[in-house]
Amino acid sequence: MIDLSAYGIDMKFDEENMELAGFNGKRDIRRFDEMKDLFLQPDSEMRDLYYMFRGVDLFDKIKIRYDITALLPGTVGEEYIKTKGHYHPDAYPEVYEVMKGKAFYLLQRSDDFETVDDIILVEAKEGDIVVIPPHYGHVTVNRGEDILIMSNLVSTEFSSIYEPYEKKKGAAYYITVNGVIKNKNYEPIPPIQRAKPKAIGAKKNRPLYTAIKENGEAFGYLNGGKYDFSEVFEFE
Ligand SMILES: [Fe+2]
Repeated sequence: MIDLSAYGIDMKFDEENMELAGFNGKRDIRRFDEMKDLFLQPDSEMRDLYYMFRGVDLFDKIKIRYDITALLPGTVGEEYIKTKGHYHPDAYPEVYEVMKGKAFYLLQRSDDFETVDDIILVEAKEGDIVVIPPHYGHVTVNRGEDILIMSNLVSTEFSSIYEPYEKKKGAAYYITVNGVIKNKNYEPIPPIQRAKPKAIGAKKNRPLYTAIKENGEAFGYLNGGKYDFSEVFEFE
């Protein structure tokens, strides 16, 4: 069992059964067969890729949801296991936190869900908090050797948009054991800017769950409140 209490939530993750102990909602599983077209080299091995626990807690008054996601380690072909990838409608941002493992967040900015004009690859380690600015589509890659467990806070007021990633067979780049490879379905394709997350939030060094329970208003930016998104990354 992986104890998540250091992240302010009194829960354990059961790595054997890939279950979040004490979670009462529905676990969603993303399987290889529904994602195979999004990989550079789809192999034929059917398996689960990641598990989503949506609405671990709901902050109804401020219209924010707390989710936990667990990605298996490993590769599909040469490519690291990743989430499907999506954009948000309008200008909804999101905030992630790495609870266990190592994540790469591949962000791509688009106004029309077609042409990408900026790409940021954010490297995050345990305890890091990563803000996804408005208009950036995002894929999470399990770049570690072990399971990746992350949490996120996001508005309850929209549904994610997956079609652009399905249409282009993934993000603008594939993250593989042999480095990053361009996805030829994107043209033009901006270079990758590598970044690390800067400490954020009303109070630094607070886990997301602790922070939102202490001061929900600090997360008003997830529903359109003011926020300086120019300060969320440290570029290399
Ligand atoms: Fe998202």
